Amino acid sequence: MLLEMMNGKVAVAIMLMASIVLGNHTNAQKQIPFKVIVNKALIAAEKQSLLMAKKYEEQEGRLPRTFEKDKDVSSDSRWWCSGFFPGVLWYLYENNRSAELLKYAKLYTSRVEREKYTTDNHDVGFMLYCSFGNGLRLTGDPSYNEVLLTGAKSLATRYKPEVGLIRSWDHNKKLWQYPVIIDNIMNLELLLWASRYSGDPVFKRIAISHADKTIQHHFRPNSSSYHLVSYDTLSGQPHLKQTHQGAANESAWSRGQAWGLYGYTYLYRETKEQRYLEQAKKIATFIIDHPRMPKDYIPYWDFDASQIPNTPRDASAAALIASALTELSDYVGRAESKKYRMVVETQIRTLASPEYTAAVGENGDFILKHSTGAYPMQSEVDVPLTYADYYYLEALTRLKNKK
Ligand code: GLY
Repeated sequence: MLLEMMNGKVAVAIMLMASIVLGNHTNAQKQIPFKVIVNKALIAAEKQSLLMAKKYEEQEGRLPRTFEKDKDVSSDSRWWCSGFFPGVLWYLYENNRSAELLKYAKLYTSRVEREKYTTDNHDVGFMLYCSFGNGLRLTGDPSYNEVLLTGAKSLATRYKPEVGLIRSWDHNKKLWQYPVIIDNIMNLELLLWASRYSGDPVFKRIAISHADKTIQHHFRPNSSSYHLVSYDTLSGQPHLKQTHQGAANESAWSRGQAWGLYGYTYLYRETKEQRYLEQAKKIATFIIDHPRMPKDYIPYWDFDASQIPNTPRDASAAALIASALTELSDYVGRAESKKYRMVVETQIRTLASPEYTAAVGENGDFILKHSTGAYPMQSEVDVPLTYADYYYLEALTRLKNKK
């Protein structure tokens, strides 16, 4: 209308000037706004995850694990990943409070409850905090407190004061006296919750001791980490350092670096100890600035894999990094925050594209494709995994909730 009312020449001149002024933005405007990407990704994830929830509804006690060679693979609650699918449903419920999502989130969460008595490995934190922990956060269901506290007590039985860490695994006793894996840092969040809830400082003391000793012995001078450090049970000092699921003992296994980044980020949130923030920032720098980090910031399964670029990526590591950096960007100065947000946006745009996000009804009803479980064992290579979906949804939720 306005243009019609103007003299033609004036209108053309105004349009030309506008295009010169806006010229720099033209490329950016071609991209779909990031908020739209995030919202669309959440809607697609809900459709896909409801298919998954319906598929296993009648299969009592079963939980999704992966989709390999065109076949669904499920597990019972013993598998370390059993809490992730319930957690996926809780994040979806956080974004859309529907009765259907709540029903399924509760159902799959209940399937994990018996793991509160797990004392033979450290994974009880993953199992319970992603399922019951999110359920408690979103519903306040008081019965979930008991499950989490019992689980925290079970996990605390694995702490040996002489060593100052939680023992991660019980197998391979001939080789490892007292194995502690970097993944174990993730399970301290349950202990910190338990101290807050019960008022008993012991859980927190264990978590702090484990986190501090991990900084001391798990990290190399360049801030990358070993996967596994085994301690001498008498001296409490390391007797062996390895990278069990990585390319070589001295390599940087991508998910291991991501566990560390995520771990020290939440440890800072929960304790406000500056040394944890510094550790998280150092790990972030190692990851982001690594010369073999691809431009889309979806890492290969190991930063030192000799076959790069002809080797699988690990979407689970990317999702973990995206979620952790989204949080970490709130705790750092402006320049770092901007850098972290740029990395996250690049990762999420890539993960939300058809290259990584499956069409609804495909990929065994998992959201993301292309994760790597344990490449050296040729186990779960280039497949969907529940924890990739979980941390992806957590990242999307955190981004959506940001002002
Ligand atoms: N916690 C086992 C893994 O990251 O593969």
